[in-house]
Amino acid sequence: MQAPSLVEITVRPGNPDFLSFPWHLPLKTWQAEGVLLEELPAGNSRHPVIFVNVSDQLFALKELPNGAAQREYQALLKMENQRLPCVQPIGYARTKTRFGPASVLITRYLDYSLPFLALFTGDRMISYRAHLLDAIAGLMVQLHLAGVYWGDCSLSNTLFKRDAGALRAYLVDAETVEIHSPEDIPPTLRHQDLVIMEENINGDLADLGAEIYLPNQIYLTAAGAYLRLRYQRLWEEITQEQVIHPNEHYRIQERIRALNDLGFSVGDVELFTTGAGDQLRLRVMVTDQNFHRDQLQSLTGIEAGERQARKMMNEIFEIKATLSKVNNRSMPLSVAAHHWLQNIYQPTLALLKPLERPDLDTAELYCQLLEHKWYLSEQAQHDVGHQAACSDYLRRFPNF
Ligand SMILES: Nc1ncnc2c1ncn2[C@@H]1O[C@H](COP(=O)(O)OP(=O)(O)OP(=O)(O)O)[C@@H](O)[C@H]1O
Ligand SMILES: [Mg+2]
Repeated sequence: MQAPSLVEITVRPGNPDFLSFPWHLPLKTWQAEGVLLEELPAGNSRHPVIFVNVSDQLFALKELPNGAAQREYQALLKMENQRLPCVQPIGYARTKTRFGPASVLITRYLDYSLPFLALFTGDRMISYRAHLLDAIAGLMVQLHLAGVYWGDCSLSNTLFKRDAGALRAYLVDAETVEIHSPEDIPPTLRHQDLVIMEENINGDLADLGAEIYLPNQIYLTAAGAYLRLRYQRLWEEITQEQVIHPNEHYRIQERIRALNDLGFSVGDVELFTTGAGDQLRLRVMVTDQNFHRDQLQSLTGIEAGERQARKMMNEIFEIKATLSKVNNRSMPLSVAAHHWLQNIYQPTLALLKPLERPDLDTAELYCQLLEHKWYLSEQAQHDVGHQAACSDYLRRFPNF
């Protein structure tokens, strides 16, 4: 009999080689063999999942049947290329343990992510819970727009990140994913995906409700129907075609702006003749939901969630307007962004330093402060400014 071993490992460049791990053993025995595992919250899973820290970077390893890790790795790579919110594939291993051949998928641990159960434990996440179903509907729309059929949308197969008081959902389990071209995903397949989603999520919430008290009844009675409605509204909003006249070019800009406001970046704009007089049909194709994130990152280098970035971009635009007025000339956006970074963002974060926590990203902390500033300014009937908002925030929530 051949000795059990690592048969093959494929890792993307720029990552550790993972060669020091005992690949000839099943993942569930690694801890007993002395491998240091990180204790992190995770959703339910049929397959063994462990978290390891290599050179100060966190990775998730999932053991699967022979051949399955490579398939999931390829599917995640394609989704990453389409800039969809999913975990990042790092590599896969083909292994042989005493139980036979197996495979292990390696993904980068999704920083600051929360499994759904974390949203229902403790008080800190109460306000975020209300956004759970919207986040899932948004994720499904993004996948379908890109031609991706998930086939297993559930609460455990999704991770959540805080995004300016709301949530952004990420696909974590791509075992059942099928990738079609964006134009060719049949409506029947989308329908099937939604049926699976409704069934899984209703089941997940019923199980959760049996274990803990759920204060909001929507979770138990109407989650599936609500999800479908949110999905349909968003899908229609994005894919609707409009009829315009050739002299109504401004309506093309209007449509693009409306989609950008929802965070979607626009790729192609298509105009067709309708055959009815001089009317045109307008169809706008979206590429991904990173519009403000991309804008903020190219201007400041800050990596933020889409909603977080939108709030920060609003501040930068406000500064651009103020600087233009004061200097009596139009100031470039990059100058405003630099001013914001130096005079607002960085000094504010320095004041908020005592509230930093390892599980909360600084962009979210900053957005919480903006929310508080808005609240104080409403009460005072004028803009109280970042510094005053920080002092009040620290006084009221010293142990946040
Ligand atoms: N890259 C990652 N970052 C953070 N958490 C992760 C990552 N990969 C997996 N997890 C955690 O592990 C859990 C299980 O992962 P996954 O759903 O892929 O396993 P599974 O066994 O295939 O599930 P199923 O039972 O649905 O087949 C997830 O809910 C998530 O909490
Ligand atoms: Mg799963």
